Amino acid sequence: MNGKWEYRRLGLRKMVLILTICMVLVSISVLESEALDNDVARTPPMGWNSWNAFHGDINEVLIKEITDAMVSSGMKDAGYEYVILDDNWMANPARDAEGNLIADPVRFPSGIKALADYIHSKGLKIGIYGDRGTMTCMNIPESGSYGYEERDAKTYAAWGVDYLKYDNCNSAARSCISCDYETMRDALANSGRPIVYGICAWGFQNWMPEVGNLWRTTGDIVDKWDNGNDWFVGIINAIDINQRYASYAKPGAWNDPDMLEIGNGGCTTEEYRTQFSMWSMMAAPLIAGNDLRNMTQETKDILLNTEVIAVNQDHLGIQCVKVRDDGNEEVYVKPLSNGDYAVALLNRGEREATISVTAEEIGFSTLDGYGYLVRDLWQHNQFGSLEAFDADVPVHGTAMFRVSQVPVDQLPGYLEISSTSNQIVSSEEAFEFSTILNNSGVRDVEDVTISLRLPDGWSAVPLSDYAFTTIAVGHLVTAKWLITPALAADGFNDIEVTVSYSDEIGETVWYKGTRLTVIPPAGSVYISALEPVISTNGWGPIEKDLSNGEMGAGDGRIITLNGVQYNKGLGVHAPSEVVFNIDGQFETFISDVGIDDEVGNRGSVTFEVWGDNVKLWESGIVEATTPTKTVNVSVKGVRNLKLVVTDGKDGNPYDHADWAGARLLPPLEN
Ligand code: GLA
Repeated sequence: MNGKWEYRRLGLRKMVLILTICMVLVSISVLESEALDNDVARTPPMGWNSWNAFHGDINEVLIKEITDAMVSSGMKDAGYEYVILDDNWMANPARDAEGNLIADPVRFPSGIKALADYIHSKGLKIGIYGDRGTMTCMNIPESGSYGYEERDAKTYAAWGVDYLKYDNCNSAARSCISCDYETMRDALANSGRPIVYGICAWGFQNWMPEVGNLWRTTGDIVDKWDNGNDWFVGIINAIDINQRYASYAKPGAWNDPDMLEIGNGGCTTEEYRTQFSMWSMMAAPLIAGNDLRNMTQETKDILLNTEVIAVNQDHLGIQCVKVRDDGNEEVYVKPLSNGDYAVALLNRGEREATISVTAEEIGFSTLDGYGYLVRDLWQHNQFGSLEAFDADVPVHGTAMFRVSQVPVDQLPGYLEISSTSNQIVSSEEAFEFSTILNNSGVRDVEDVTISLRLPDGWSAVPLSDYAFTTIAVGHLVTAKWLITPALAADGFNDIEVTVSYSDEIGETVWYKGTRLTVIPPAGSVYISALEPVISTNGWGPIEKDLSNGEMGAGDGRIITLNGVQYNKGLGVHAPSEVVFNIDGQFETFISDVGIDDEVGNRGSVTFEVWGDNVKLWESGIVEATTPTKTVNVSVKGVRNLKLVVTDGKDGNPYDHADWAGARLLPPLEN
């Protein structure tokens, strides 16, 4: 009653005025909580940035080659769009007499406008790097935009720039960080060109979501899994930090845990898969940071996984939340625009782990007659489940799924594969390996076959059946093999189990990798544990248990030959000679040899093994694409063992050669 009376007393004109004020206030507060309204980056930006692979070593030939590779590799078709020049594109000093930014005349002789035209002509967009202070992080005189914001934004727009990464070094005296970023935001808005605005200020601050389209939540990423509490972050550190700000992500405004390291060689394939899965779950920008001109198939399989990219690019633009944390085992969920959910099961631990999730945890409410279609986004295959499912997740790996609620009669069957896991075997003894198939799905399956893919030089003899006519719901079968490892097998080795079956819905094939740790025969000694008496190397020092990083000691990466990683060995650079005094104590020298995957398709060398000045073995020319070779020679009575790598007679660029798993075996016991 009171309310009505008040209305009448105020009169119509006053009411309209008050309503108008309210509407303005409401719209201001809506605007304040909105993302930067520049109509770009409505889904997380995708592209490539020069920093992680090349640092300041960039020029227009390289950028054009990368642009071409972005198209020819299929990256463009998969959605990658921005080719971004990071620090050091500018001249030194960076401005002309009028104060305009100019490109380095030697490395970018055609200028940025011409480069932008080239990138645009390929159907891609160009990004560039600037800094809010007086100089960029590489301290190039006059390179900072402080006080030049309007001018620089207009320059970028005139060149055709589509994306600006704006860094935080050398801030001007008495400047304010949010003010500087706001000044450039406004300058970009005035520039007449829509430009994605990336704030790079190494940590989240509350004002960022309204000022930039993306903002770095972390210090700089490095090509490692875990870098502890350092300012430089590894993949797992970046995930942890970036997740703190999950609620701020929305279309046009994204948390940025820094660029991808996939393909740069410092992490395992599983770790890189985790980076791609989790960046996608977190709706983070997918900015590749590797050399796109030389990608292994494994790198392509990650960067070009369009099912995972679709989760990243989902129009709802919601960052995942962590729904469970069991210490090393974590479950993340991201709602998708069609009502599905993306689910990531992340294993931070040092052993394979089985991680489970229920439909309720994911966020579904139960519907009579409905179950869940679970699509594995790495295996590109699916199974049916009634309420929960689990996955065996490798060390530092992530299993990723898209889950939809569908009528039970549409669900395909499921054979869960579990193999002997976390097994430690000796390279000189055969061992038993078993695989259990458990029908945990909703229907019987038929025509089941199991096959194994073993590492090179390994062999298997079946000890049981490995094909089955039918496996009914709730039943399981076990298949067994006796496996003999290659004598040179070392460190981590993967056995891949392939299972195929059919049911009323269709045919299905699943792969399941199982990692074994192979230990050398008792009494053998890794070459990397010995001190050489002579060692010469083409670039930098010979690396122990790492590839050759070319510069200082310890700058190499995990030794990797044709996708296989070794935790022991020598990483050398041709021409190289290393001599060990072994005093006639050993019987056999064993090693895998090849050019490390880190140099892509380049490099060519020969490997030689010498004993007391007699050549015992020679590989012939080994190129990057040559399958891994194994040397297994007698060194009985040898006092001086010499390992030689020549440049393959074509000069030594990119000749990163590995003596992978190299070791000496003791005399055989009688
Ligand atoms: C800072 C940024 C990096 C990179 C370098 C360039 O460290 O955080 O991403 O742009 O500067 O100097």
